[in-house]
Amino acid sequence: MSFSVLGTGMYVPPKVVTNDDLSQIIDTNDEWIMQRVGIHERHFSEQETAAEMGYRAALAALENSGVRAEELDLILAASVSGETISPSVSCEIQGRLGVSCMTMDINAACSAFDFMLETAAGFFARKKVKKVLVVGTERLSRLIDWTDRSTCVIFADGAGAVVLGEGDGYIDAVFDVKGGLDVINIPQPVGSSPYYQRGQERKPCIHMHGQDTFKFAVTAICRDSVQVLERNGFSFDDVAYIVPHQANKRIIDFASAKLKVPKEKFYVNIDRFGNTSSASIPIALDEMNRRGMLKKGDLLLLPAFGGGLASAACLLRW
Ligand code: UT7
Repeated sequence: MSFSVLGTGMYVPPKVVTNDDLSQIIDTNDEWIMQRVGIHERHFSEQETAAEMGYRAALAALENSGVRAEELDLILAASVSGETISPSVSCEIQGRLGVSCMTMDINAACSAFDFMLETAAGFFARKKVKKVLVVGTERLSRLIDWTDRSTCVIFADGAGAVVLGEGDGYIDAVFDVKGGLDVINIPQPVGSSPYYQRGQERKPCIHMHGQDTFKFAVTAICRDSVQVLERNGFSFDDVAYIVPHQANKRIIDFASAKLKVPKEKFYVNIDRFGNTSSASIPIALDEMNRRGMLKKGDLLLLPAFGGGLASAACLLRW
């Protein structure tokens, strides 16, 4: 027993910030951002926390699926930008939904949606659950170093969610993790312990070596996608859509060229939403679903990559 996706939802805060808006506060411009990253505008939270956005995406996914919150057996959530370390974002979403079921947060940065699907698949396989809510939600604007123009133009806020039910839609996934601190990291504040030896404090914001991340991303998206397709006897021709983590349009273009897969097969919405980390794939799925792009039986490939360094590629039938 595996699962099928019963419904999708998303929420982005109403505040839209264009590249021209950003150029008012930092030395950048629309041409550079469009050429190097492919983002035109993104949404930033003025008030909503990551958990609030996740809750709103969850409500939309529940409504789309026709599942009542009380039917949920498990809530999985991912966020690197929740306001509290405890309670977890999944606990807060559960509290807002007013239900009581097991909840769990998964920390795998931008790859977390794939890690959550695989975790959910384990619960379904053991027949422990019948309905599961999966939420990726980020308020990355609170972790951005607004003096660092190589990150503040990329990252953005938003949430995406899916409701899963028993079925045979989920086929397989591959994962790759190379633990380390060097390429991308987000330190927590060091605290005020009188016993802590000072001197190693780092700003609690997103630190990223852009070019190293870029190379890692292109390698990961190609390797993981080929691996999961081959080991299940599929080729790219069998895939209806590739729905990648939206980190940079150029990463997707490079992968398309390297894999010799037409660009049209990749769903891209980074131009309107920026990089929303764990929320980017479920946001894309919700857009595609509501636009009527996904037909029952379509094979979808979901490659993801990011901090960790962690990457994954999931294969599922709609
Ligand atoms: O989701 C998590 C995973 N994250 C990613 O996948 C991000 C991967 N990396 C990237 O997307 C790209 O490396 C960046 C978009 C972050 C940077 O693009 P790049 O083509 O690697 O640029 P660069 O860092 O090599 O910088 C090239 C130039 C530099 O100027 P000089 O030294 O050549 O004069 C930068 O200072 O571009 C400059 N630059 C900018 N110029 C205008 C960097 N950021 C900006 C900016 N506006 N926002």
